[in-house]
Amino acid sequence: MKKYDPRVTPRQIKEHEFPQDRDPTEKLQFLLRYAILAPSSHNTQPWKFSVGKDEIQVFIDRTRWLKVADPDLREQHISVGCALENLLIAAEHFGYGHQVTYFPKPANEELVATVKLKPQGQPTPFRDPALFEAILNRRTNRKVYDERPIPQGDLQHLQNCCVEGDIWLHMTDDLETKRKADELIIRGDAIQFSDPAFREELGYWIGQGLLSAPWLMSKMAQLTVTYMNLSKGQAKKDSEVLMSAPILAAISSEVNDRESQVKVGQVFERVCLAATIRGIRVHPMSQILEIPELKAEVSKLIPKPDVFPQHTFRLGYIEQEKEHTPRRPLEEVLV
Ligand SMILES: Cc1cc2nc3c(=O)[nH]c(=O)nc-3n(C[C@H](O)[C@H](O)[C@H](O)COP(=O)(O)O)c2cc1C
Repeated sequence: MKKYDPRVTPRQIKEHEFPQDRDPTEKLQFLLRYAILAPSSHNTQPWKFSVGKDEIQVFIDRTRWLKVADPDLREQHISVGCALENLLIAAEHFGYGHQVTYFPKPANEELVATVKLKPQGQPTPFRDPALFEAILNRRTNRKVYDERPIPQGDLQHLQNCCVEGDIWLHMTDDLETKRKADELIIRGDAIQFSDPAFREELGYWIGQGLLSAPWLMSKMAQLTVTYMNLSKGQAKKDSEVLMSAPILAAISSEVNDRESQVKVGQVFERVCLAATIRGIRVHPMSQILEIPELKAEVSKLIPKPDVFPQHTFRLGYIEQEKEHTPRRPLEEVLV
């Protein structure tokens, strides 16, 4: 039997292996191979799925909750939204129509969405079919970006990814806004890295080898992060990468509820994939939303009053990251 390698195996999906002649459940399960390639906070992959004949249920996995960095589960819901979006894009690619019901059983907060799937359905007009190919290539890029600006036409394509009426995508190249965001990032790193509980949690996930380093390096990085306050070095690095980015972006919602957070994830994933097609790199920088007093400051940088900032990231150009981060096997996330 071939050895399972989480770094490569989940990405070895051959489109032509779609089980066309098999039973409906097996076909829907195949779509989930794309869903699990989504980004997630600390690569926690906090999702679970249950597959029926014409329906997939999408769950949040509370056992993978970042209790310190994400106490209100905002990032967890955004991450699940990213996976849901990949699922819908893959469904459309293989000819399915879909209907999503968010939180269909209010008493069950872990059931995030039910997706009804029907063969020979109509694709949605705002999901560019080219996004499908990008699912396999997308990855987070944390490098310093080139100074090169992003052309207006490409920014417009990214803007068009946000079609939900109550969700807002703001992108800016304004230097003053960048400087203010930079100050917040520096404060955020100082607060988080001086908190042993934050360092322990981050160290744990790094130690799982989920952030792309080989096993030994992951374990060494876990020890370093857990036992040393690296806030100064981290702040310097984050400041440099933030200021290098030609564009800073924020996705906000009109209502601060779970459904909106899932939709924010869906928009973010479409932006990531549309950016990937155009060679634009994406890097979420979440610390400024993880600390309540800084989050209030972020709101002031968004040129729309009374919205809740949910996710912040930077965009720009640089060579692609060589490695992909690993994923858990699909079998592990099926219930
Ligand atoms: C909601 C959310 C928040 C994230 N926050 C950060 C962050 O603050 N800093 C960072 O470097 N990456 C962040 N990421 C990126 C994840 O670390 C990344 O998606 C994960 O490690 C998987 O790697 P990949 O995106 O290359 O597949 C975030 C991703 C999501 C979905």
